[in-house]
Amino acid sequence: MHQVESPSRLTRTRPSAASRALGVIEAVLAPLVYPKSAEDYLREVFPLLSRREILAEVVAVRPETPDTTTLVLRPNGLFRGHRAGQWLMVEAEVFGVRRTRCFSIASAPALHQEKGTIEVTIKARPGGVVTPELVWRQKPGAIITISEAQGTFVLPETLPARPLFVSGGSGITPVMSMLRELALHNQAHGATFVYYARTAADVVFARELQEHALFSGAEILVWTDDEPSAVSAPFGRCDARADLSAHVPDFAERETFVCGPPGLLGAMSALYAERGASERLHTEAFSLEEHTSRDDGGTEPQVVFARAAKTQKGSRTLLAMAEDAGLTPRSGCRMGICHSCTCRKVSGVTRDIRTGELSTDANVDVRICVNEPVGNVVLDL
Ligand SMILES: Cc1cc2nc3c(=O)[nH]c(=O)nc-3n(C[C@H](O)[C@H](O)[C@H](O)COP(=O)(O)OP(=O)(O)OC[C@H]3O[C@@H](n4cnc5c(N)ncnc54)[C@H](O)[C@@H]3O)c2cc1C
Ligand code: FES
Repeated sequence: MHQVESPSRLTRTRPSAASRALGVIEAVLAPLVYPKSAEDYLREVFPLLSRREILAEVVAVRPETPDTTTLVLRPNGLFRGHRAGQWLMVEAEVFGVRRTRCFSIASAPALHQEKGTIEVTIKARPGGVVTPELVWRQKPGAIITISEAQGTFVLPETLPARPLFVSGGSGITPVMSMLRELALHNQAHGATFVYYARTAADVVFARELQEHALFSGAEILVWTDDEPSAVSAPFGRCDARADLSAHVPDFAERETFVCGPPGLLGAMSALYAERGASERLHTEAFSLEEHTSRDDGGTEPQVVFARAAKTQKGSRTLLAMAEDAGLTPRSGCRMGICHSCTCRKVSGVTRDIRTGELSTDANVDVRICVNEPVGNVVLDL
């Protein structure tokens, strides 16, 4: 039997006409196929068939760099498409536990409209639980569960003139979707795409970026830590502030879309704030910055996981404390955006590590990935 870490956010609630028809078939056949369901049998023949789950077939697996792979997915009809820059949740089974993680859709929305496929490009995190499984062990023909596309880091409906895209490492994926969408509609002319990687071998989509530089009209600037730009070289590593000032001097006047490691996001936020251009900066983060708990000078907080009858002391996120206690609560983004980890707080005070806001009420839902205990807390977990 599988433990299910986070199925609920991957389930659609509004049934389509096809799923209503399947519901009728199920009701008719139910007595004949019990204890299985008609859907179980039909799925042997039609593997993407589902009334509520967005299932996707892995139709191709494309290595991009030594640790990064693109999965080409063909979702079933429950998937309603996406906007350039959005992300979705992917569920993978690792050692019998179904776990959910978030990934940006790197392909252009036009690809789904024309061919019915979407692409996610995933980097294997050293020590990560799910990404090595997806990067190195997925095979064409596999069926996985995904969610609807979500997120507000998107290419605006009214396309900005001369947009600027800045990304680093695996953060290239949402802005690549934007560049691809612009290029497919012959609107990449005037766009600038800045990308940072550690080494030349780590440059994701290297060949395609060269093609964009030659044919799409977009300006493509790629620098690596071992080969930074001439203006960055004195710093011994890539420096976005120096690069933009030298190579994209009008950056503060351009709608700018940034995704990458916390250092890059922080540098860009500071630069645009200095120029009074923060409203033109749009950012996406893949993780929260390393969180250091506040020392309230009192006794060490304690969390009781009531259903598991376990207690954990410490000052980390409730999710990290649950995992330290050997529990496998639902989680996805681990940064407060997907709501997979929402859990009932029975009593006690918690603090949102992003805003510092306190939750003092009993019997309320909290996202355990972005809340830490203040004093004693009891969770219905
Ligand atoms: C909106 C969004 C879009 C994203 N898009 C992409 C993308 O396009 N491509 C891409 O490669 N990545 C993307 N990511 C990042 C991706 O989701 C993470 O790399 C992935 O979740 C890491 O999964 P993992 O299971 O390999 O690592 P995990 O095992 O989840 O490890 C990641 C970190 O979580 C913590 N952690 C995990 N498990 C435990 C535990 N048991 N106890 C304590 N700490 C633990 C650790 O600090 C660890 O370093 C995106 C993330 C978000 C939020
Ligand atoms: S894991 Fe996504 S909100 Fe907590």
